Amino acid sequence: MNDDVVEVRDLRRSYRVGGRTVTALDGVRLSFGRGTFTAVTGPSGSGKSTLLQCAAGLERPTSGSVLIGGTDITRLRESRLTRLRRDRVGFVFQAYNLLPALTAEQNVALPFRLAGRRPAPAQLRAALAAVGLADRAHHRPAALSGGQQQRVALARAIATHPDVLFADEPTGALDARTAEEVLGLLRQMTTEGHTVVMVTHDPSAAAHADTTLTLTSGRLLSPAPPG
Ligand SMILES: Nc1ncnc2c1ncn2[C@@H]1O[C@H](COP(=O)(O)OP(=O)(O)OP(=O)(O)O)[C@@H](O)[C@H]1O
Ligand SMILES: [Mg+2]
Repeated sequence: MNDDVVEVRDLRRSYRVGGRTVTALDGVRLSFGRGTFTAVTGPSGSGKSTLLQCAAGLERPTSGSVLIGGTDITRLRESRLTRLRRDRVGFVFQAYNLLPALTAEQNVALPFRLAGRRPAPAQLRAALAAVGLADRAHHRPAALSGGQQQRVALARAIATHPDVLFADEPTGALDARTAEEVLGLLRQMTTEGHTVVMVTHDPSAAAHADTTLTLTSGRLLSPAPPG
Protein backbone atom coordinates (compact mmCIF):
# COMPACT_ATOMS: atom_id res chain seq x y z
CA MET A 1 0.00 0.00 0.00
CA ASN A 2 1.18 3.49 -0.79
CA ASP A 3 0.71 5.75 2.20
CA ASP A 4 1.92 8.93 0.52
CA VAL A 5 -0.54 11.74 0.98
CA VAL A 6 1.16 13.95 -1.58
CA GLU A 7 3.28 12.86 -4.49
CA VAL A 8 5.04 15.31 -6.81
CA ARG A 9 6.44 13.98 -10.08
CA ASP A 10 8.86 15.85 -12.33
CA LEU A 11 7.26 19.17 -11.47
CA ARG A 12 8.16 22.12 -13.66
CA ARG A 13 6.87 25.67 -13.54
CA SER A 14 8.11 28.54 -15.63
CA TYR A 15 6.83 32.06 -16.11
CA ARG A 16 7.04 34.36 -19.12
CA VAL A 17 8.05 37.81 -17.94
CA GLY A 18 8.74 40.58 -20.43
CA GLY A 19 9.67 38.16 -23.22
CA ARG A 20 11.98 36.12 -20.94
CA THR A 21 11.28 32.74 -19.37
CA VAL A 22 11.91 32.36 -15.66
CA THR A 23 12.12 28.77 -14.45
CA ALA A 24 10.84 28.55 -10.89
CA LEU A 25 10.71 24.74 -10.64
CA ASP A 26 13.02 22.63 -12.74
CA GLY A 27 11.96 19.01 -12.29
CA VAL A 28 11.08 18.28 -8.66
CA ARG A 29 10.15 14.79 -7.49
CA LEU A 30 9.18 14.05 -3.90
CA SER A 31 6.49 12.64 -1.68
CA PHE A 32 5.05 13.34 1.73
CA GLY A 33 3.82 10.45 3.86
CA ARG A 34 0.91 10.52 6.29
CA GLY A 35 1.71 12.22 9.58
CA THR A 36 5.10 13.52 8.46
CA PHE A 37 6.45 17.01 9.11
CA THR A 38 8.69 18.32 6.33
CA ALA A 39 10.54 21.64 6.18
CA VAL A 40 11.42 23.16 2.81
CA THR A 41 14.33 25.59 2.85
CA GLY A 42 16.49 27.30 0.26
CA PRO A 43 17.58 30.75 -0.86
CA SER A 44 15.13 33.47 -1.84
CA GLY A 45 13.81 32.81 -5.34
CA SER A 46 14.68 29.08 -5.26
CA GLY A 47 11.06 28.08 -5.89
CA LYS A 48 9.79 27.22 -2.40
CA SER A 49 6.52 29.14 -2.61
CA THR A 50 5.95 27.96 -6.18
CA LEU A 51 6.41 24.35 -5.03
CA LEU A 52 3.90 24.80 -2.22
CA GLN A 53 1.36 26.58 -4.43
CA CYS A 54 1.60 23.87 -7.10
CA ALA A 55 1.48 21.03 -4.56
CA ALA A 56 -1.60 22.58 -2.94
CA GLY A 57 -3.37 23.06 -6.26
CA LEU A 58 -3.39 26.85 -5.91
CA GLU A 59 -1.31 27.13 -9.05
CA ARG A 60 -1.01 24.98 -12.19
CA PRO A 61 2.43 23.59 -13.02
CA THR A 62 3.81 23.92 -16.54
CA SER A 63 4.36 20.15 -16.61
CA GLY A 64 4.60 17.20 -14.26
CA SER A 65 1.97 15.98 -11.86
CA VAL A 66 0.81 16.34 -8.28
CA LEU A 67 -1.12 13.53 -6.63
CA ILE A 68 -3.12 14.18 -3.48
CA GLY A 69 -4.52 11.01 -1.96
CA GLY A 70 -3.85 9.28 -5.29
CA THR A 71 -5.74 11.85 -7.40
CA ASP A 72 -3.75 13.71 -10.03
CA ILE A 73 -4.88 17.26 -9.31
CA THR A 74 -3.13 18.69 -12.38
CA ARG A 75 -5.71 16.89 -14.53
CA LEU A 76 -8.77 18.12 -12.64
CA ARG A 77 -11.16 20.72 -13.96
CA GLU A 78 -11.30 23.90 -11.90
CA SER A 79 -14.55 23.02 -10.11
CA ARG A 80 -13.33 19.59 -8.98
CA LEU A 81 -9.95 21.00 -8.01
CA THR A 82 -11.64 23.64 -5.86
CA ARG A 83 -13.66 20.96 -4.09
CA LEU A 84 -10.65 18.70 -3.52
CA ARG A 85 -8.69 21.64 -2.14
CA ARG A 86 -11.49 22.50 0.28
CA ASP A 87 -11.84 18.91 1.46
CA ARG A 88 -8.24 17.79 1.69
CA VAL A 89 -5.85 20.72 1.77
CA GLY A 90 -5.13 23.45 4.30
CA PHE A 91 -2.92 26.45 3.60
CA VAL A 92 -1.33 28.96 5.96
CA PHE A 93 0.54 32.06 4.81
CA GLN A 94 3.10 34.29 6.47
CA ALA A 95 0.64 37.19 6.33
CA TYR A 96 -2.22 35.27 8.07
CA ASN A 97 -4.76 36.41 5.42
CA LEU A 98 -7.63 36.75 7.88
CA LEU A 99 -10.64 38.86 6.91
CA PRO A 100 -10.50 41.96 9.14
CA ALA A 101 -14.28 42.45 9.37
CA LEU A 102 -14.88 38.93 10.68
CA THR A 103 -14.34 37.61 14.20
CA ALA A 104 -11.90 34.77 14.86
CA GLU A 105 -14.77 32.29 14.87
CA GLN A 106 -16.23 33.68 11.63
CA ASN A 107 -12.80 33.47 9.99
CA VAL A 108 -12.55 29.81 11.01
CA ALA A 109 -16.05 29.27 9.58
CA LEU A 110 -15.06 30.73 6.21
CA PRO A 111 -13.96 27.51 4.42
CA PHE A 112 -17.26 25.87 5.39
CA ARG A 113 -19.31 28.85 4.18
CA LEU A 114 -17.41 28.93 0.90
CA ALA A 115 -18.30 25.26 0.47
CA GLY A 116 -21.95 26.10 1.13
CA ARG A 117 -21.94 24.32 4.48
CA ARG A 118 -22.99 25.54 7.88
CA PRO A 119 -20.41 24.43 10.47
CA ALA A 120 -21.57 23.41 13.91
CA PRO A 121 -20.55 26.06 16.47
CA ALA A 122 -18.96 23.28 18.53
CA GLN A 123 -16.72 22.41 15.58
CA LEU A 124 -15.52 26.02 15.30
CA ARG A 125 -14.93 26.25 19.02
CA ALA A 126 -12.99 22.98 18.97
CA ALA A 127 -10.69 24.33 16.25
CA LEU A 128 -10.06 27.54 18.22
CA ALA A 129 -9.54 25.55 21.42
CA ALA A 130 -6.99 23.39 19.62
CA VAL A 131 -4.84 26.47 19.05
CA GLY A 132 -5.44 27.83 22.55
CA LEU A 133 -7.83 30.60 21.55
CA ALA A 134 -11.17 29.42 22.91
CA ASP A 135 -11.52 32.74 24.75
CA ARG A 136 -10.89 34.89 21.66
CA ALA A 137 -13.70 33.59 19.42
CA HIS A 138 -15.42 36.97 19.18
CA HIS A 139 -12.28 39.08 18.68
CA ARG A 140 -11.59 40.61 15.29
CA PRO A 141 -8.03 40.26 13.89
CA ALA A 142 -7.13 43.87 14.83
CA ALA A 143 -7.74 42.97 18.48
CA LEU A 144 -5.37 39.98 18.34
CA SER A 145 -1.58 39.79 18.47
CA GLY A 146 0.37 38.53 15.45
CA GLY A 147 0.84 35.11 17.01
CA GLN A 148 -2.84 34.90 17.88
CA GLN A 149 -3.80 35.86 14.33
CA GLN A 150 -1.54 33.14 12.95
CA ARG A 151 -3.14 30.67 15.35
CA VAL A 152 -6.60 31.68 14.05
CA ALA A 153 -5.28 31.07 10.52
CA LEU A 154 -4.09 27.64 11.68
CA ALA A 155 -7.46 26.90 13.28
CA ARG A 156 -9.13 27.85 10.00
CA ALA A 157 -6.79 25.59 8.05
CA ILE A 158 -7.34 22.56 10.30
CA ALA A 159 -11.06 22.96 11.06
CA THR A 160 -11.97 20.98 7.94
CA HIS A 161 -9.49 18.21 8.94
CA PRO A 162 -7.36 18.39 5.79
CA ASP A 163 -5.08 15.48 4.85
CA VAL A 164 -2.24 17.90 4.33
CA LEU A 165 -1.40 21.36 5.61
CA PHE A 166 0.93 23.58 3.60
CA ALA A 167 2.45 26.50 5.47
CA ASP A 168 4.55 29.16 3.71
CA GLU A 169 6.77 30.92 6.27
CA PRO A 170 4.11 30.53 8.99
CA THR A 171 6.46 31.88 11.65
CA GLY A 172 8.11 34.54 9.47
CA ALA A 173 6.33 37.42 11.17
CA LEU A 174 6.43 36.06 14.71
CA ASP A 175 8.84 36.53 17.61
CA ALA A 176 10.83 33.50 18.73
CA ARG A 177 8.50 32.49 21.56
CA THR A 178 5.30 32.79 19.53
CA ALA A 179 7.00 30.97 16.67
CA GLU A 180 7.75 28.07 19.05
CA GLU A 181 4.06 27.90 19.97
CA VAL A 182 2.98 27.72 16.34
CA LEU A 183 5.66 25.11 15.55
CA GLY A 184 4.47 23.07 18.53
CA LEU A 185 0.94 23.18 17.11
CA LEU A 186 2.17 22.01 13.71
CA ARG A 187 4.00 19.13 15.38
CA GLN A 188 0.89 18.24 17.35
CA MET A 189 -1.11 18.12 14.12
CA THR A 190 1.24 15.50 12.69
CA THR A 191 0.74 13.32 15.76
CA GLU A 192 -2.98 13.50 14.95
CA GLY A 193 -2.29 12.12 11.47
CA HIS A 194 -2.11 15.33 9.44
CA THR A 195 0.77 15.78 7.02
CA VAL A 196 2.54 19.13 7.37
CA VAL A 197 4.80 20.79 4.80
CA MET A 198 6.37 24.07 5.91
CA VAL A 199 8.55 26.55 4.02
CA THR A 200 10.97 28.37 6.29
CA HIS A 201 14.18 30.40 6.17
CA ASP A 202 14.81 29.76 9.83
CA PRO A 203 17.02 26.75 10.73
CA SER A 204 15.58 26.62 14.24
CA ALA A 205 12.07 26.35 12.77
CA ALA A 206 13.23 23.67 10.32
CA ALA A 207 14.67 21.73 13.26
CA HIS A 208 11.11 21.00 14.41
CA ALA A 209 10.46 18.97 11.26
CA ASP A 210 11.32 15.29 10.67
CA THR A 211 12.92 16.02 7.32
CA THR A 212 14.39 19.12 5.71
CA LEU A 213 14.44 19.50 1.93
CA THR A 214 16.53 22.18 0.27
CA LEU A 215 15.69 23.83 -3.03
CA THR A 216 18.25 25.66 -5.16
CA SER A 217 17.32 27.18 -8.51
CA GLY A 218 14.14 25.13 -8.69
CA ARG A 219 15.81 21.79 -7.95
CA LEU A 220 15.93 19.61 -4.89
CA LEU A 221 19.38 19.58 -3.30
CA SER A 222 18.86 16.92 -0.66
CA PRO A 223 16.54 14.15 -1.77
CA ALA A 224 14.01 12.81 0.68
CA PRO A 225 15.37 9.78 2.51
CA PRO A 226 13.58 6.55 1.71
CA GLY A 227 10.73 6.02 4.11
N1 LIG B 1 3.85 34.96 -10.73
C1 LIG B 1 5.13 34.97 -11.11
N2 LIG B 1 5.49 35.57 -12.26
C2 LIG B 1 6.78 35.56 -12.65
N3 LIG B 1 7.79 35.01 -11.97
C3 LIG B 1 7.49 34.42 -10.81
C4 LIG B 1 6.15 34.36 -10.32
N4 LIG B 1 6.16 33.69 -9.14
C5 LIG B 1 7.44 33.35 -8.92
N5 LIG B 1 8.24 33.77 -9.90
C6 LIG B 1 9.71 33.58 -10.02
O1 LIG B 1 9.99 32.21 -9.74
C7 LIG B 1 11.13 32.08 -8.91
C8 LIG B 1 10.76 31.34 -7.64
O2 LIG B 1 9.88 32.14 -6.87
P1 LIG B 1 9.32 31.67 -5.45
O3 LIG B 1 8.36 32.70 -5.00
O4 LIG B 1 8.83 30.28 -5.57
O5 LIG B 1 10.64 31.69 -4.57
P2 LIG B 1 10.83 31.44 -3.00
O6 LIG B 1 11.85 30.36 -2.85
O7 LIG B 1 9.51 31.25 -2.36
O8 LIG B 1 11.49 32.82 -2.53
P3 LIG B 1 11.31 33.62 -1.12
O9 LIG B 1 12.16 32.88 -0.13
O10 LIG B 1 11.87 34.96 -1.44
O11 LIG B 1 9.86 33.64 -0.77
C9 LIG B 1 11.64 33.49 -8.69
O12 LIG B 1 12.68 33.75 -9.59
C10 LIG B 1 10.45 34.37 -8.96
O13 LIG B 1 10.85 35.62 -9.46
MG1 LIG C 1 8.40 32.35 -0.96
